[in-house]
Amino acid sequence: MLHVAEDDGGVEDERLARAYRRAAREREARRAAEMLLEQKSLELYQSNEQLRQQASRLEAMVDARTAELSAALEQATAATRAKSDFLATMSHEIRTPLNAVIGLADVLAMSPLNDEQERHLAVLIRSAGSLLNLVNDILDFSKIESGHLELERRDFDPAAEIGNVVEAFRPQVEAKDVTLEYRVSGLPAVMRGDSLRVRQIATNLLSNAAKFTAQGRIVVALSATAREGGWELRLTVSDTGVGVKAEVMERLFEPFMQGDSSITRNFGGTGLGLAISRRLAELMAGTITVTSGEAGSTFAVTLSLEAAAAEPVRIDAQRAATLPRMSVLVVDDHDTNRMVAQALLRKLGQRVVAAASGPEAIEFAGREAFDLILMDMQMPGMDGLTATREIRSLPLTRQPRIVALTANAFDRDRERCLEAGMDAFVTKPVRAEDVSRELLALSGAA
Ligand SMILES: Nc1ncnc2c1ncn2[C@@H]1O[C@H](COP(=O)(O)OP(=O)(O)O)[C@@H](O)[C@H]1O
Ligand SMILES: [Mg+2]
Repeated sequence: MLHVAEDDGGVEDERLARAYRRAAREREARRAAEMLLEQKSLELYQSNEQLRQQASRLEAMVDARTAELSAALEQATAATRAKSDFLATMSHEIRTPLNAVIGLADVLAMSPLNDEQERHLAVLIRSAGSLLNLVNDILDFSKIESGHLELERRDFDPAAEIGNVVEAFRPQVEAKDVTLEYRVSGLPAVMRGDSLRVRQIATNLLSNAAKFTAQGRIVVALSATAREGGWELRLTVSDTGVGVKAEVMERLFEPFMQGDSSITRNFGGTGLGLAISRRLAELMAGTITVTSGEAGSTFAVTLSLEAAAAEPVRIDAQRAATLPRMSVLVVDDHDTNRMVAQALLRKLGQRVVAAASGPEAIEFAGREAFDLILMDMQMPGMDGLTATREIRSLPLTRQPRIVALTANAFDRDRERCLEAGMDAFVTKPVRAEDVSRELLALSGAA
């Protein structure tokens, strides 16, 4: 081996030199790779850093937006609440004097009048009525908007209820060159639901048809289809009036929305009628749609109603006239309200005593047996609820029927009335029909 090493000394050097060069090349390559790696990881680090900064900026932005939104929401909620409260108070303040106007007009209408007086009274009743409608529309809308509207469940005769609405519009419609038809088909005598709200939808649609139709005809059609446990009621109001443009059709159901700005100038109105009607229809698991052809338009409503629980009670003038004579205590702190209710009850042939406060009512109720007490809810000092509780705790041989009179049509008021021991609830202004119904309920006829 030594011999070989000596002989091949030059070859060995050459091999060493090659190995050395290879190692140098490898070192070089490794260094280049390391540098590349370093550069790449630096780049990676930088873009990571950028991403991280972007993410935190984004997060800060989201936080800021969320804060802004929740502040805005809080403001909006507070504003809505303030608006609802304001509207409730305002409508109460307006309805109290309106109560007197409408109630006394009702009383006057039952007196002998000459032709001119009758005409004037008709205008007075109509105007007061539209004012009340307006106030009620605004109140209703804010009630629906804040989720406070609850529906009644009472038996009613749909053909008669809608028929009354149609007849109420007949003079106004036929005074123009317009005929008014009412078609009824396939209806049961009674259904169960909120007749007031059903009438309200019909009234809104008919008032529009009457308003926007100068000539031709208006057809109101009412039909029903039996359903599991109830009925689908279908009401359509078709007219030959100005019609509705396709592009505004859907928007008509938005609040305060009118076909175009000339409408308010020419026809008045607030643009709430259809918005309320749609929401009411939806509350009754129904729909409301509009179609418009060459001339005129058709509004179609479907409502889901329950089957009736009992036979209907009709309250008409004759029935009211045959009411048994009963004794009624009217409790109200307002002189005019008291006077209206008293006058109405006397016209209905009832014996009436009036009390101007809660304590007075308790005193009278303890001294004399009343069949019916009409109790105002809001009175200074002692309110109607407390007075009712006191009367309920009196050792009477027979407790009277106590009916709350209130200007607030809110459902929580109704609950509070029933909790306090009242039997029923009547919204002001007091109408002959409501009082008759309460008297009928007492006489066992209902
Ligand atoms: N029968 C109809 N014919 C033509 N346009 C109608 C009819 N009913 C409603 N409209 C349009 O829909 C709009 C909104 O109706 P509504 O909500 O009842 O408000 P208002 O009657 O106060 O204007 C009306 O202003 C009108 O442009
Ligand atoms: Mg309208």
